[in-house]
Amino acid sequence: MHNIRELRAEFPILSRVLPNGKPLVYFDNAATSQKPSSVIDAMSGFYETFNSNAHRANHTLADEATTALESARSSIAAFFGAEPSNLIYTSGTTEAINLVAYAWARRNLSEGDAVVLTEMEHHADIVPWQELSKEIGIEVRFVPLDLEKMALDMDAFQHALDGAELVGIVHTSNVLGIRNPIEDIIRLSHESGAKVLVDAAQGAAHERIDFINLGADFVALSAHKMAGPTGIGALLATDEVLSQCGPFLTGGQMIRSVSIEGSSYRDGSAMLETGTPRIAEAIGWGAAVDWLSKIDFKEMHDHIKHLAITASNGMKEIDGIRVFSDPVRPESSGTISFLHERITSDDMAMLLDEGGFAIRTGQHCAQPLMDALGVLSTNRISLWIYNTEEEVKSFLSHLRMICERFG
Ligand code: ALA
Repeated sequence: MHNIRELRAEFPILSRVLPNGKPLVYFDNAATSQKPSSVIDAMSGFYETFNSNAHRANHTLADEATTALESARSSIAAFFGAEPSNLIYTSGTTEAINLVAYAWARRNLSEGDAVVLTEMEHHADIVPWQELSKEIGIEVRFVPLDLEKMALDMDAFQHALDGAELVGIVHTSNVLGIRNPIEDIIRLSHESGAKVLVDAAQGAAHERIDFINLGADFVALSAHKMAGPTGIGALLATDEVLSQCGPFLTGGQMIRSVSIEGSSYRDGSAMLETGTPRIAEAIGWGAAVDWLSKIDFKEMHDHIKHLAITASNGMKEIDGIRVFSDPVRPESSGTISFLHERITSDDMAMLLDEGGFAIRTGQHCAQPLMDALGVLSTNRISLWIYNTEEEVKSFLSHLRMICERFG
């Protein structure tokens, strides 16, 4: 990609040398991305110069903290084509989905109502619905993967939609890197009267998500996979569904008034944020979206795609390696799961780590997808904007060496 060296220089960690003397090659971006200096500096700038609680006191630092928190909300909302009042800060995607299950679904669904999920969902979009099923008796339906096409079975999806109240759908699989046909899913769901919750934890790092154009009822986001800090994310929710929500976490900030006799709550998104806000994290996320706003997403997509195709073509030529993703497909991003037929995924991860390659191993918080693929775990590389062709080539040569020596 254009100016990749300059871009990499903005991420201090990318010049790190590991204790064994190997330079770091970071291929675990689907777990969390690295952070540019502008994000790190914005967060330390808060702690060094105006650390204070927000929305509480009238002194100068408190005003500065409140202004920075709310200006970050405006920048983040604008980045996602949403109004600030439709953005609720959460700890991340997991909390955002739990918020929907707790504050919206518990109030609007009842025994026998159906929620449609898919076998591609991350655990964060499965377990809250199973809990709700135990609590109020909702039905949870799972749409299978079409293993031939390695894509969601859309016929089964349409069938599962019948009479459903809510669809929970992962935008882009954290295991296979496949982007689901979100626009079709939202259209079909709405035609059938179901609300849609999109898990965009992975997708937001790969394409510009525009909340209004997308038309979903809820979108769950994490900052840390898109150059921002851990500990913060958001739920984007329409005015309609916000008006149907009850409280989520209760306590300070979300209240209108509290007396011994009882309490009343603020309206809309204000009711759904409680306690001291994540001020430093919001400032960091605001800096991350400012940084990402300068990135041409089409150019980034082409760059990642080129790397992913090079990686997967090379991996497929190595004896014993099975590749589960197909980056050539237009709906693929830079995430590739693979497995060696004799070297366990844990051993593979350790051997790659010895070469300086940070990859992910395990079930990727997606056990139903592992079951559908018929494996216990996979190795996974996930590429992002700052990865280079040299890194991919050196990964392939190290992988080849491991397979020749230990396979
Ligand atoms: N769900 C994240 C991943 O895929 C943590 O690694």
